[in-house]
Amino acid sequence: MTSDALRATDVRKIYQTRRFAGWRRATARSGRAPDDGAVEALSGVSMTVRPGERVGLLGRNGAGKTTFLKIASTLLTPTSGEVLVFGQDVDREADQVRALIAVVPQEGKPFFHLTPREQVYTYLRARGLSRETALSRTAESLAQMGIEDVADRLSVTLSGGQRQRTMVATVIATEAPLLFLDEPTIGMDPFARRAVWECLRRLTRKGSTILLTTHYLDEAEALAERLYIIDRGTVLVEGTSDALKHRVGGTLRVSVKGGKEVEALFASFGHCVGDGEAVHVITEPPRLGEIMEVAVRHGLNATVGPVTLEEAFLRAVGRSIDDEAS
Ligand SMILES: Nc1ncnc2c1ncn2[C@@H]1O[C@H](COP(=O)(O)OP(=O)(O)OP(=O)(O)O)[C@@H](O)[C@H]1O
Ligand SMILES: [Mg+2]
Repeated sequence: MTSDALRATDVRKIYQTRRFAGWRRATARSGRAPDDGAVEALSGVSMTVRPGERVGLLGRNGAGKTTFLKIASTLLTPTSGEVLVFGQDVDREADQVRALIAVVPQEGKPFFHLTPREQVYTYLRARGLSRETALSRTAESLAQMGIEDVADRLSVTLSGGQRQRTMVATVIATEAPLLFLDEPTIGMDPFARRAVWECLRRLTRKGSTILLTTHYLDEAEALAERLYIIDRGTVLVEGTSDALKHRVGGTLRVSVKGGKEVEALFASFGHCVGDGEAVHVITEPPRLGEIMEVAVRHGLNATVGPVTLEEAFLRAVGRSIDDEAS
C-alpha cells in the first residue's frame, strides 16, 4: 500500500459537449474551422497529497479544479491517467475509495426538505456509523459550524451561508480519511470561515487529509500547508505559500498611487504591477531606502507591506497567460 493519501499521475479529461445547432450551421457557412465540441479540462495533472496534509488547489475560473476533484472523488472518469486514493484506483476500485472519502461539492445544497440535524445524521447513518456515534458527531459538527440555533428548521428556510455551513458540517462529521472540499467557505461570513478553518485543522490533527479549492487566497494561506496552482488544465507551480511568494522576486511590496508614468520611475527597482489606480513594486528590503527617496523627490505617497499570496498567484498565472498570448 502506498504511503500517499492521494497520488495523481498525468490525469487528462476531455469533455465532449453538444453545440448549439444554429451556431454550428453559421460557422459551417462562414468557412471557419468546425468546433468539434471537445473541451480539454485537464491536460496531464500530477500531484501527491500525504496523509494528514491540508493541500490547496488554486486557479482561475475554468482552470480545471472541480474537474480534478470530481475525478479524484470517483464522480467522473478521467480520459486517461490514474488517481490512487490510499493506494486504491478511483476508477477501478471506486467502491472502496468512496468509503475513505467525503466531498463538499461546488455549489452543493443540503436537502431542502430535511433539517440540518436530519441531513448530517442521515448521511452518517448511510455511511454505516452507529446510532450513538452518528448522534454525537451530528451534535458536535452542528456546534462547530455554529448552526445549532437553526439545526431543526427545514433547510429551505436557511440563508445561503447557513446552507453552506450545513454542507460543511455534514462532511466534517464523517471524519473520513480524505476530505475533498470545493470552495467550502463560499458565501460564509468571516466568523464562519474561521470556524471551518479550525474544524479542518482539528480534523488533520486527528489524522484526516484535506484537499480543497478556494479563490480566497487569505484562506489558502491560513489553511493549506502546500498549494498547487493550476491553469488551463496543467499544474503551473507547487509549494508552500512562502515558497510561492518567494518566486515573485521579492518579499516587500511598495504601493505608489499613479499610472504608467509612475511605473517608469520605479521599473528598475523590481517587478512592477499596475492595478489601475496604483503601481506595486515588488522588491527586497535593501532597495527600500532608494525607492522611498524617489517617491519623496516626486512628491508621491508610498506605502510598504509584505508580498501577498495574491501577488504570487497573479504573477504565476499572469506569466502563463503571457506565454499563451505569445
Ligand atoms: N460537464 C462539462 N462539459 C463540458 N465542459 C465542462 C464541463 N464541466 C466543466 N467543463 C469545462 O472544463 C473546464 C474546467 O472546468 P472546472 O469546473 O473544472 O473549472 P474550475 O477550475 O473548477 O473553475 P471555477 O473556479 O470557476 O469553479 C472549463 O473550461 C469548463 O467550462
Ligand atoms: Mg470549480
